[in-house]
Amino acid sequence: MIRKASVISPLVLLVIACGNAMAPSPAAADGAPKGAQVYKMHCELCHGANGKLGFNDAKDLTASVLSRAEMIMQVSNGKGKMMPYKNVLTAKEVEAVVDYTRTLGKTR
Ligand code: HEC
Repeated sequence: MIRKASVISPLVLLVIACGNAMAPSPAAADGAPKGAQVYKMHCELCHGANGKLGFNDAKDLTASVLSRAEMIMQVSNGKGKMMPYKNVLTAKEVEAVVDYTRTLGKTR
C-alpha cells in the first residue's frame, strides 16, 4: 500500500508540474504568442529543433527562400504532407511561429 503510493505520487506531481508549465500558453494566445513555444509544439516533430530534421519530407527551414508572407501562407494553408494550421493556430500564432522559423537559418 505505502510502497505503491510512493511510486504513484511523484508521477502525479510531474503531471501537475507539466500542466502548470503549459498554463501560460492559452493565456498568451490572444496577446503575445511565443513563436518558439508554438514551434516546439507544432513544428519540431517534422522540422526538428534546428529546422533541419526533414522528417516526412519536410523541407530544411534554414535553407528556405520563401518570404515571410509566403511562409505565413504555407503554414496557414499547408502544402504537400504539411497540414494547414489556420484552424489550429490563431493568425498571430502563425505570424509568431513564422518569425521564429525565420531566425533558425540565421543562427548557423
Ligand atoms: C507533418 C510534418 C510537418 C509538420 C508538423 C510541419 N511541417 Fe512544415 N513542412 C512539411 C513538409 C513535408 C514541407 C514541404 C512541403 C512541400 O513543399 O511539399 C514543409 C514545408 C514548410 C515550409 C516551407 C519551406 C520552403 O522553403 O518551402 C515552412 C515555412 C514550414 N514547413 C513551416 C512549418 C511550421 C512553422 C510548422 C509548425 C506550425 C510546420 N512547418 C509543421 C512538414 C511539416
